[in-house]
Amino acid sequence: MKITIAGAGYVGLVTGTCLAEMGNDVLCLDIDTAKIRTLNEGGLTIFEPGLKELVAKNVMAGRLGFTTDIQRAVGHGTLQFIAVGTPPGVDGSAELQYVLAAARSIGRHMTEYKVVINKSTAPVGTADKVQTAIKEELAARSAAVPFAVVSNPEFLKQGAAVQDFMRPDRVVIGAEDERAIRLMRALYAPYIRNHDRLLVMDVRSAELTKYAANAMLATRISFMNDLAVLAEHVGADIESVRVGIGSDSRIGYSFLYAGCGYGGSCFPKDVKALIETAKAFGLDLAILDAVEGINTRQKRMLASKIFQRFGANLQGRRFAMWGLAFKPNTDDLREAASRQVIAELLDAGATVCAFDPVAMNEARKIYKDKHRVAFAASPMEACKDADALIIVTEWQQFRSPDFETIKKSLLSPVIFDGRNLYDPRFLRENGFEYFSIGRT
Ligand SMILES: NC(=O)c1ccc[n+]([C@@H]2O[C@H](COP(=O)([O-])OP(=O)(O)OC[C@H]3O[C@@H](n4cnc5c(N)ncnc54)[C@H](O)[C@@H]3O)[C@@H](O)[C@H]2O)c1
Repeated sequence: MKITIAGAGYVGLVTGTCLAEMGNDVLCLDIDTAKIRTLNEGGLTIFEPGLKELVAKNVMAGRLGFTTDIQRAVGHGTLQFIAVGTPPGVDGSAELQYVLAAARSIGRHMTEYKVVINKSTAPVGTADKVQTAIKEELAARSAAVPFAVVSNPEFLKQGAAVQDFMRPDRVVIGAEDERAIRLMRALYAPYIRNHDRLLVMDVRSAELTKYAANAMLATRISFMNDLAVLAEHVGADIESVRVGIGSDSRIGYSFLYAGCGYGGSCFPKDVKALIETAKAFGLDLAILDAVEGINTRQKRMLASKIFQRFGANLQGRRFAMWGLAFKPNTDDLREAASRQVIAELLDAGATVCAFDPVAMNEARKIYKDKHRVAFAASPMEACKDADALIIVTEWQQFRSPDFETIKKSLLSPVIFDGRNLYDPRFLRENGFEYFSIGRT
């Protein structure tokens, strides 16, 4: 099939590449000329395991291309995916300007039947707005071209995006147009070969499903973070509690980790946007208000433990930080817990020396004007002469470090662990002061 993807970011680039991998002819469009130039020169604009090889292979095979030429892009695909950003607006609701701009471009240039597929996470009612925008553009040039609008929310997770796209738990299609549904079934059939996991529903339900999924996952995390605070007070260990409840098949282990808060480009903004959608209908999603509030508190938890230990004035103190990305296997720093910790440490006068296996280039851009943020070439280099080590991202390489070397490198053997990577008793026995989440 001929496919155009508007937006070559985390979702668009992975979607386009994985669709090309199955033999489709894919053209990715982006308004960011630097991004398209990098992709056309064989570079990659994001880090995602397995993506580099897959992009190179499909570009080489002539099935994957990149352009900034809107007219060419609209002319190319019968299927027009929209995978542009939907960042939070000032009130927390999803900003739809990029989705609607992409829709208008399609309406302005289309000359034959198109299926316009919204893959961006956008509130209930967005498909109607996309439909209206395209109709207005067609009317403006007195054109009568048939089209269908489909909602196809994306559930991939950064860090395992290629794998998730190639083997989805389910594919949700919100559509009414029979021809569009047939095309979507054909498109996704190769990804769900062993049993049908394609769920066709009405458009509004599809739009709400995406928010419901992220809100549920965020709720589990905030639930555990709230219990973690209680666990510290009553002298329980949240990790034991996690295993104790996760082993219940009705509950399961996923997304039950207490820590220094969820981040990334999705959970924070999607929870806020869902709260705003409800507000627009005069409704109050009390659970999600709490989920959001707990996460805000949790993101400050590491800094508050540091202040408790070292005092509010951190002038002259230096901290090592392991991990910057909002989670392992990505270079994405959007809403990452590290940013909150760094901001509070800098405000208190401290210096931070960070190490992250892939996110340091992104971090350098963010902290280019902050001379008290430095980057180390290795985890141990970050620890050198630091007052304490802070762990923010649970990269695998941090799980079994050489504690003796850490101890020798730090000025004092103190670790603040926002991801509960180590055994508190082991660290205590080895002479560390160890502060983690929900464990005494
Ligand atoms: N990142 C994730 O893990 C994830 C997962 C599921 C869903 N989503 C949703 O997918 C959407 C995209 O997220 P992302 O993380 O890929 O964002 P991103 O910021 O990485 O990429 C968006 C891209 O769209 C481009 N763009 C903006 N307007 C455009 C236009 N009119 N035409 C063409 N390109 C345009 C931008 O330049 C940018 O490159 C969001 O709605 C997000 O909530 C993201």
